[in-house]
Amino acid sequence: MKKNSVDDLAFFNGNPFFLEQLHVGRPNIGNRQKIEERINDILDRKWLTNGGKYVYELERGIEQFIGVKHCIAICNATVALGIAIRALGMKGEVIVPSFTFIATAHALQWQEITPVFCDIDPQTHNLDPRQVERMITPRTTGIIGVHVWGRACDTDALSEIAHRRNLRLLFDAAHAFACTSKGKMIGGFGDAEVFSFHGTKFFNTLEGGAVVTNDDALAHKIRLMKNFGFTNYDQTDYVGINGKMNEVSAAMGLTNLESLDEFISVNHRNYGFYQTYLAGLNGISLIVYDQTEKYNYQYVVLEIDSQKTGLTRDDLVTILHAENILARRYFSPGCHQMEPYRSYFPNSGLLLPQTERLAQRVLCLPTGTAVGEMEIRQICELIRLVLENGEEIKRRLK
Ligand SMILES: Cc1ncc(COP(=O)(O)O)c(C=O)c1O
Repeated sequence: MKKNSVDDLAFFNGNPFFLEQLHVGRPNIGNRQKIEERINDILDRKWLTNGGKYVYELERGIEQFIGVKHCIAICNATVALGIAIRALGMKGEVIVPSFTFIATAHALQWQEITPVFCDIDPQTHNLDPRQVERMITPRTTGIIGVHVWGRACDTDALSEIAHRRNLRLLFDAAHAFACTSKGKMIGGFGDAEVFSFHGTKFFNTLEGGAVVTNDDALAHKIRLMKNFGFTNYDQTDYVGINGKMNEVSAAMGLTNLESLDEFISVNHRNYGFYQTYLAGLNGISLIVYDQTEKYNYQYVVLEIDSQKTGLTRDDLVTILHAENILARRYFSPGCHQMEPYRSYFPNSGLLLPQTERLAQRVLCLPTGTAVGEMEIRQICELIRLVLENGEEIKRRLK
């Protein structure tokens, strides 16, 4: 039932608009029968992991899809980042954005490498190459760019800096599977790139991830490292870890790969509905995707300008959650404000003004196959009601 006044809002006196919670990142699931067939085959053949046929097929499928020489499937993107960082020989200090999921920083700190947090460009939400240059010290060995929301980093500028300063360049492409940069599929930039196939990503393998690279020697090393470093039966040449993807995850991935176009077109369509139904609302802006590139549209990202709306992003999130719309703050707080980094570098915020500003403004709204035009129109009507009554709501929230 349509809500017409502040009193109708669930946070005050009303009932939640949605009976069931609407999540950001509700899993997409491809052809169920096909998944079941593949899982039954795995169970029949009793080959669950370690060089199985489904992992092999998934890796070759991704290589072909991206147009990259090597894909190494890994149990998740955090472990994939850790393995790529170690295989690339990063140590000392590595420059990363703070406006990212904490895993990007943890993958370094886990190996006692210092993440040096660098500010972002407020337009792109990605690493600002001019700031990167300023953060380089004699201890710097690499840069990790994150393609936030699937919108590519300035790959040319970062490659140029890495090349000139003799640094390794890795991309955390956790958000950017099936996206392009200057018409080229993300996955082939830098020394290597890492995807996440976590259940909340638009393309999932339950849990999972991959390192992709065009570097033969690096790929070989990563293949060994993800299998304890075994170079031969009962022989290791360096430290390794168990980063293997299992066969059931790969079967899920292969099946979801077959539905990839459908997942993307649903996300794209939903993004268009949000554009339509949020049009003309003062003080909020939906991030823009460049029409000349390909995207997966898995994040519907709003920026809230509290000067104009009278309400903060957090106020809006509070009201939406009461309506069972589980909008999410991203990435809030920035990594530099989370432990252990906050204690290690208590003043780093001074160098991160754009990160701090953005981390207070961004929220993501539900999309994916779990929502359609009707839900999106209703979500947008609620946002409209909230913003049109910003002052009254602010007063009552106090
Ligand atoms: C930017 C970024 N990096 C890394 C990760 C970690 O991915 P995983 O959950 O597969 O370990 C995520 C997960 O959401 C992410 O968003």
